[in-house]
This record gives sequence, structure tokens and C-alpha cells, in this order.
Amino acid sequence: MKEKLTFLGIETSCDETAASVVREKTDGTGDILSNVVSGQIDEHKEFGGVVPEIAARAHVEKIDFIIKKAIKESNLSFDKINGIAATAGPGLIVCLTVGLNAGKAIAGSLKKPFVAVNHLEGHALSPKINKKIKFPYLLLLISGGHTQFLEVKGVNDYKRLGTTIDDALGEAFDKTAKLLGIEFPGGPKIEEWAKKGDKNYFELPKPILKKGGCNLSFAGLKTAVLRTSKKLKSQKEKYNLAASFQKTINEILYEKTKIAMKEFLKDKENIEKTFVIAGGVAANLKIRENLTKLSNEKKFTSIFPPVNLCSDNAAMIAWAGIERYKMNLIDNLEFPSKARWPLDSSAPFLKGPGLKI
Ligand code: KG4
Ligand code: ZN
Repeated sequence: MKEKLTFLGIETSCDETAASVVREKTDGTGDILSNVVSGQIDEHKEFGGVVPEIAARAHVEKIDFIIKKAIKESNLSFDKINGIAATAGPGLIVCLTVGLNAGKAIAGSLKKPFVAVNHLEGHALSPKINKKIKFPYLLLLISGGHTQFLEVKGVNDYKRLGTTIDDALGEAFDKTAKLLGIEFPGGPKIEEWAKKGDKNYFELPKPILKKGGCNLSFAGLKTAVLRTSKKLKSQKEKYNLAASFQKTINEILYEKTKIAMKEFLKDKENIEKTFVIAGGVAANLKIRENLTKLSNEKKFTSIFPPVNLCSDNAAMIAWAGIERYKMNLIDNLEFPSKARWPLDSSAPFLKGPGLKI
């Protein structure tokens, strides 16, 4: 039997320093032998968002240790690794370079194949680590840096159906949280506060709900939250604003996902209708409930990868490395880091890489 591949993955595109070892299983899914993620929330807290230079310095300080830890926890040695995959974009150049250079150095010195991975492809293929899923499937990626609907046709083959024209959804949560006096990253706290509030108390706008296909926009909503937050008189009203904001987001996601599902199904017959929701914001239980309900209505199977694979991690990068390597998509050590790197190069440019400030 052919040897199953084992890859080391490295991720430093934003504020997580991560390394992981993943091995293919005979059934086509993956075994995560180690998955080390070190965040930087404390470093960025006082700034209310990720500061690129601070993030890059933290990556430099931690990267060697994190990689060694991932190898140690996998109970393997470097010589048992078949290849190295590192995120090359999109993201903050000063951050990307740290993980990318580390990956190239290991690949070069061990004479192992190197695969440069698009962070978005990492997210897109991540549900396949735990579960056998057939191509094509519909993906909604909602994180602090990205918000997009993608048709995942295969490895290296994507069609972007829609994207945000301004803020990412996680950014909208974090900025709303900041206005309510909640520390970065505020998404989880907004969810908590929303439970204590009246979701119908404030009427908030839903930008481009009825136009722009399944593209999304959150800037107008943010401005309305800013205006409303200035008038709040009590903690109860803060809870109400958190609840109203979350409800509005859910209404936007419901309508836009409906459009994305329709576009995805266009010209397709007899396919398994699969809808994957990934990214840090997919941890939100109300959003999960909402999108599960819609999936049931539209006869899609909804899949939420586990939270540790949803938010930024290197297991998804190692896995994308394995999938790309199997298709002979191997890169040389000159591969550059790319701030902007759309998965679908034919899609119109609507937004730059996810800077969170
Ligand atoms: O994917 P992720 O871990 O990192 C990147 O952005 O790349 O996503 C983090 C984002 C943050 O904006 C955070 O506030 C948001 O996900 N988030 C949430 C929840 N948990 C994390 N937003 C809403 N509700 C949550 N429960
Ligand atoms: Zn991400």
C-alpha cells in the first residue's frame, strides 16, 4: 500500500502563530497529530485591533518554539514528515513572511517538498479533514478578515459567488463591541450580551439586502450602531443593542445565503447539496441556528467544522498542503508572500486583505 502523506503546516497570516502535523488516513480524511495555536489577544487588546508590527514581532519570537512543539506533540521527528506547507497569503505581509520563511527554511534544509498555501483555501478545505465531503460544495467563510461565499469545485478550483464590499463580519462584531465598551475581540461577548437583551428594541439597517446578489455590506450598519450607541442610557440598553445587532446580522445572512444557494445550484443537477460554514464567527450559536434552519428549508446539509478548525489554525494549512501535493501543485522556495491573493482570480476586486483596524 502507498505510504500515507504526513505534512507540517505553518500559519502566521494575522495574529495567530500556528503549526500542526496532519496525516492522511486510508478513508481519505485526515488525522490531526498536533495542532498548536498561540494567539496574541493581550498584545492587541489596548489597540482594539491587530497592529501589524506588533503581530509580526510576536510571530518572530514564537515561531521556532511553536513548530518544535507541533513536531513533539505529533510524536514524530522531522524526517517522518513528507512535506511542508505554509500560508503565503492573503494577509499582513510582515506576518506572512515569518511563517513562510520558516517553512521554506525547513523544506530547504531537509530537502522536502514545499507547498505555498492560500489561507482561504485552507479554510475552504478544512471540513474535509474530519469528514468525507464531495465536491462541489457551497462555503460561507465568516472571520475577522474575510466574508465570502465560495463555490468549492475542487482543489485549486473556486468560484467566488459573493463577498463583503466593506468590513468583514468579524470586524463588524468587533467594532460594535468596541462601541459598547467591550475589549477586542468582542464577538463572543456580543453573543453573550445579546442573550440578555431585546432583539426587537432597535431597528438597524440592512445594507444592500435587496441588491448586489450575494455580496454583503456592513459599513452602514456600523454607522447606525455608532449613532445608537451614543444615546444609550443603561446597561440594559447596551444588551438590547447587542441583541438587535445580532438579529440584524442573522437576517442579512439568511437572505444572502438564500441567494448564494440559488446561484450555487444554477446549472447543476443531482448533486449532494452541502453547505459549509467556517471562520471564527461560525462559533456564534445564533448564527449556527439560523443557517441550519435555512439549510433544512432548502434541503442542504449544513456542516460546521469544529471550532478549533474554524478559527485560524495550521491543521487546515497542512491539510491543504497534502491535497495540493497530491495534485502535483508543489512550489519552489522563491514563492513570495502576497497581501492580496483571491482564490478566484476572475472575481471582481471588491475589498483588500483583512486589516482589522
Ligand atoms: O477566524 P478567526 O478566529 O480569525 C480571523 O479573523 O482570521 O475569527 C475571529 C473573529 C473575530 O472577529 C471574533 O470577534 C469573531 O471571529 N468571533 C465571533 C464569535 N467568536 C469569534 N463573532 C461572533 N460571535 C462569536 N461567538
Ligand atoms: Zn482565517
